[in-house]
Amino acid sequence: MQFENKIICDGLLNKSLEVKMQKLIIYGPASLMGEIEVEGAKNAALPILTASILAQNKVIITNVPDIVDVKHTIEILKYLGCNVLFENNTVVVDSSSIGRFTIPPEYAKLMRSSVLFMGALLSKFRRVELSNHPGGCEIGQRPIDLHISAFRQLGIEVFENNNRIMCRCDRIKGSEIFLPIPSVGATENIILASIFCDGEVVIKNAAKEPEIVDLCHFLNKLGAKIKGAGTHIIKIEGVKRLNSEEVIHKVIPDRIVAGTYLCAVAACGKEVVLKSVFPRHLDSILHILKGSGCKIKESKNEIWIKKEGRLKGGLRITTHYYPGFPTDLQAPVCSAFAVASGVTIIKETIFENRFKHVPELVKMGADIHVEKDIAVINGVEKLRGCKVFARDLRGGAALFIAGLSAQGVTEVMDADYIDRGYEKIEEKYSLLGAKILREKGE
Ligand code: UD1
Repeated sequence: MQFENKIICDGLLNKSLEVKMQKLIIYGPASLMGEIEVEGAKNAALPILTASILAQNKVIITNVPDIVDVKHTIEILKYLGCNVLFENNTVVVDSSSIGRFTIPPEYAKLMRSSVLFMGALLSKFRRVELSNHPGGCEIGQRPIDLHISAFRQLGIEVFENNNRIMCRCDRIKGSEIFLPIPSVGATENIILASIFCDGEVVIKNAAKEPEIVDLCHFLNKLGAKIKGAGTHIIKIEGVKRLNSEEVIHKVIPDRIVAGTYLCAVAACGKEVVLKSVFPRHLDSILHILKGSGCKIKESKNEIWIKKEGRLKGGLRITTHYYPGFPTDLQAPVCSAFAVASGVTIIKETIFENRFKHVPELVKMGADIHVEKDIAVINGVEKLRGCKVFARDLRGGAALFIAGLSAQGVTEVMDADYIDRGYEKIEEKYSLLGAKILREKGE
């Protein structure tokens, strides 16, 4: 068993290196036309898969995007000892044979969300070890001090030694935790760690993101008692054990993937219908695009967008916690407004290092200046295709949009960053009329 898992681990690393070689070749300019289904949300699927280790019985999770971060999470589940099947966007997890409480460095450094296994494993075993600081896209310092401080408030002993973090406790203490920042990951970790707490855990200034609401729906189906998800105060009443029934859960649509389609249409033009989407999760981006000359209609699960002529800039956009404008759409919006009329100003308030796409957009002819946390975009008529490098997931998506709108051929190198969060992106946009090839890079 040990040996087999070592192989999985090494295989995973090799695979990661291999996908680093991918590049997307985009033949612009595209005009996007048609209907497209929006995939399930990465940021909901990852914590839900992590939470599945708590289930008493098998869980069936549907609408799971077929993306690299999901595959990595499944590898971690398998490493811990779960039996997992992933087929046709459905994951079946049987955690009855789980036997480990350690996340090895190879896995921890692959993904920031590996940190959520700490909360889930603490609930399961009252113990967890993380042998590396959680990785992920380098968009800022991304510390985990709020997670650790919250664990300590729950009565968990936390030892840190070099990069290694060890946590243990006899029980999880009911308590009130105030988060100085409404961190998505810290909110999720506290919820996961508190399922079996003594009494009640109250999170004040909790994050309100829809993905947290989805995680709590899933946990409540398993038998947890969580109230207030989607508000700034979340209450978790400890339960003795979870239900024994099999649970089926459908992951919510990915609002960032949907927002990326909207930005692509805003940049390239024409007419697209997004299906299987929750427009209410996209209020901030819809408001911006409506104010910039896009025609948009929403119904319960669909968004129709039409853009003719040039996008109108002249806005000031600031990233915020939900329901504000999401930091994950900052880069895609940058690409759309790079070709808008007038000057658009974008202020990034969540992460310190999230303008890595800008120098690449400038290579393509964009006129953008970054000063600390502000990007000033002087819209140009057109971008021109060239070779650009993705440096992180959403920045990669921004270059992809820029390639769609540009004149000529754009090569987006290191497209594996994009594959972390977008399912078969070239196939999806080809369905809307774009011409894209995928090749191994140099
Ligand atoms: C999640 C999302 C990510 C999104 C981000 C903000 C997932 C898997 N990822 O990331 O796509 O961009 O929310 O919406 O859901 N912070 C601290 N100390 C901590 C934790 C966070 O200072 O212990 C800071 C971060 O550095 C950042 C801010 O808080 O500046 C928000 O981070 P957080 O909400 O925790 O983001 P993630 O959960 O990592």
